[in-house]
Amino acid sequence: MASSPKRILSGMQPSGTGRLHLGNLVGALENWVRFQEAGWENYHMVADWHTLTTKPEGSAQLDEQTLEVLIDWLSAGLDPEKSVLFIQSHIPQHAELFLIFSMLVTTARLERNPTLKEVVRNLDLDENISYGHLGYPVLQAADILLYKANAVPVGEDQLPHLEITREIARRFNKLYKKRVFPIPEPKLSRVKRLPGLDGNKMSKSLGNTIYISDSPEQIQSQVMSAITDPEKIRKNDPGHPEICNVFAYHTVFNEEEVPQIEQDCRSGALGCVDCKKNCAAKITEYLAPVREKRAHYVANKGEVIDIANAGDVAAGAVARETMADIKAAMKLRGFDGISG
Ligand code: TRP
Repeated sequence: MASSPKRILSGMQPSGTGRLHLGNLVGALENWVRFQEAGWENYHMVADWHTLTTKPEGSAQLDEQTLEVLIDWLSAGLDPEKSVLFIQSHIPQHAELFLIFSMLVTTARLERNPTLKEVVRNLDLDENISYGHLGYPVLQAADILLYKANAVPVGEDQLPHLEITREIARRFNKLYKKRVFPIPEPKLSRVKRLPGLDGNKMSKSLGNTIYISDSPEQIQSQVMSAITDPEKIRKNDPGHPEICNVFAYHTVFNEEEVPQIEQDCRSGALGCVDCKKNCAAKITEYLAPVREKRAHYVANKGEVIDIANAGDVAAGAVARETMADIKAAMKLRGFDGISG
């Protein structure tokens, strides 16, 4: 008999407009689809509460942004027959477990989280970190462990958070002397880090993205604006592909031509304009199946909402079961445990 299927959980924030970019696609989504096709139990959650940690004033837009994320997920190949797609805030147990876990981690540990420092730097938050933002990785631990996930497919940037999840899981199991939680493993994707158009990490908040919903024209104008090798000023100057963002895109979306492009860039035979046009065409081609599915879901949003509603039901059932295990391990039995 086959061993019991393994489970993954992963999520994304519905930040910005909710639309996802190429970094999300090759750094996470494609990996999720791979697990789905390999027969794992996939749980994927739109992390809307996480978005409130840095943008509490944006609550009114969250539902619409959440729908955009779901549309992009389905367009990228997540199949609701095989994967559970749900919304964090629809499952109140995420908040309940977040509270319990917040007792199992020190503030000093959370202050050391390098991701926190990066977000503070990028968003110019200075020292104005909310209590909820400090607790971001604790909420993420609750997301993952509520589903007893064995593995978490994420990008490299999420490894510090996953380490905190693992620590909390170990601490709980040890403190309450019961192995309630597996210790989840990170699973990195094919592409560890896709640079943005400016060479920083591709990120919605930095405005250096190509969205998977962009039209061929938008893709072309975005790629044209990308920063290349600053020493390659004239068309036939020799270039340095290893520091060029457009070359990085070729390695992901146009693997076949990489040796030739590398050679022609270095020799000066290939100019940046032609190289960029080719790159934009390859990205457009790569996204063709995604674009087709997207058109369907944009025209049928009711279908997307039905999928999420069904996902919420499935996720809620697991969440309630895990909370019961947690309370049993902690011997939080209510008055049932007290005899008359
Ligand atoms: N922090 C993740 C990100 O910004 C999103 C996230 C929230 C997540 N909860 C999660 C990822 C649980 C994996 C597992 O990308």
